[in-house]
Amino acid sequence: MGKSIRPYQLFTLVSTLTLFIVVCVVMIRCEPPKGKILPLTKSWEKAVPQQTIPKGLNAISAASCGTCHVQHYQEWKLSTHAHA
Ligand code: HEC
Repeated sequence: MGKSIRPYQLFTLVSTLTLFIVVCVVMIRCEPPKGKILPLTKSWEKAVPQQTIPKGLNAISAASCGTCHVQHYQEWKLSTHAHA
């Protein structure tokens, strides 16, 4: 007798599943289409100005920044942020 699903358990299960499905649908619909350039629409958005890549910088990786900024890179490498 004790194994049957009680009404509040069914309610909790159905509510959780419904919430999960709603969150999934919202996340899928909010994701911008891949490869599509979207215009700036929010007041806080700013375009990054066109810049030339500094001499000696072949890639935008922390290690490549570290070739010149040695001390900053060594300090950052040990930080929690670097392992996030
Ligand atoms: C080829 C050497 C070199 C590389 C590689 C390099 N930088 Fe620099 N960086 C410099 C120099 C030199 C300055 C100082 C420029 C100045 O003061 O005009 C500087 C300045 C900066 C500053 C400004 C610091 C301040 O006090 O205003 C930041 C931030 C910075 N670099 C970040 C980066 C990042 C992030 C990368 C990697 C994507 C990187 N740098 C790669 C040489 C380099």
